[in-house]
Amino acid sequence: MRIDKFLSECKIATRSETGKAVRRGEVLLDGVPVKRADTPVDPEKNTVTYCGEVVRYRRNTYVLLNKPDGYVSATEDKKDKTVLDLLPEEVTKFDVFPCGRLDKNTLGLMLITDNGPLAHTLLSPKRHVEKVYRFECARKPSEADLCMLQNGVDIGGYVTKPCTVKMIDDTSGEITLSEGKYHQIKLMFNAVDNRIHYLERIRFAFLTLDGLQRGEWRYLNNDEIKKLEGLVK
Ligand code: URA
Repeated sequence: MRIDKFLSECKIATRSETGKAVRRGEVLLDGVPVKRADTPVDPEKNTVTYCGEVVRYRRNTYVLLNKPDGYVSATEDKKDKTVLDLLPEEVTKFDVFPCGRLDKNTLGLMLITDNGPLAHTLLSPKRHVEKVYRFECARKPSEADLCMLQNGVDIGGYVTKPCTVKMIDDTSGEITLSEGKYHQIKLMFNAVDNRIHYLERIRFAFLTLDGLQRGEWRYLNNDEIKKLEGLVK
């Protein structure tokens, strides 16, 4: 790929801006100024520097965030802070949005991306992408409650699909869903006369929080991106 195409795909500079920066000696390939804007680059192997900044190659942006309490899953909100407020400009300049929603008081794993078709496909109920949540509820669910939760309960005109609930102790456990209706887990527990006190998403497909502290974020690595994009092929 040409270095000017590389920089425009990364939304760093237009081709004409790259041409000018090349003439100023501000585009480096592995630390050496390039002489031409059509210099070939291997994004996997070469390091490109533009005006003093190393450029990460990406066609799309994928970020994993550990969402804290009190942030809404939206790109903007008149009243509340949004999950995008936790990300720096180097991420938000790419028109990213949360892939799916967590309630304002739900914590944990959020995928944030600018890849609309991928997000749409991952969230499609037909894809059965698993989401695992840790929960705490108000009272110990009976065996009958667990059976109902797992087989499907009516959450206001919609019967939930089969899911898995594993109790850790009397009032906490993990629930694995392959769909994502609005307030689904809270409504499911309400349907068996219980109440969710704490909810945290700990896995989305194969992605886990793995050492990411509350409020922290990181880019997905190339292997994770390939795997994610592979899921929607
Ligand atoms: N289910 C809920 O009730 N809330 C969430 O945030 C996610 C799943």
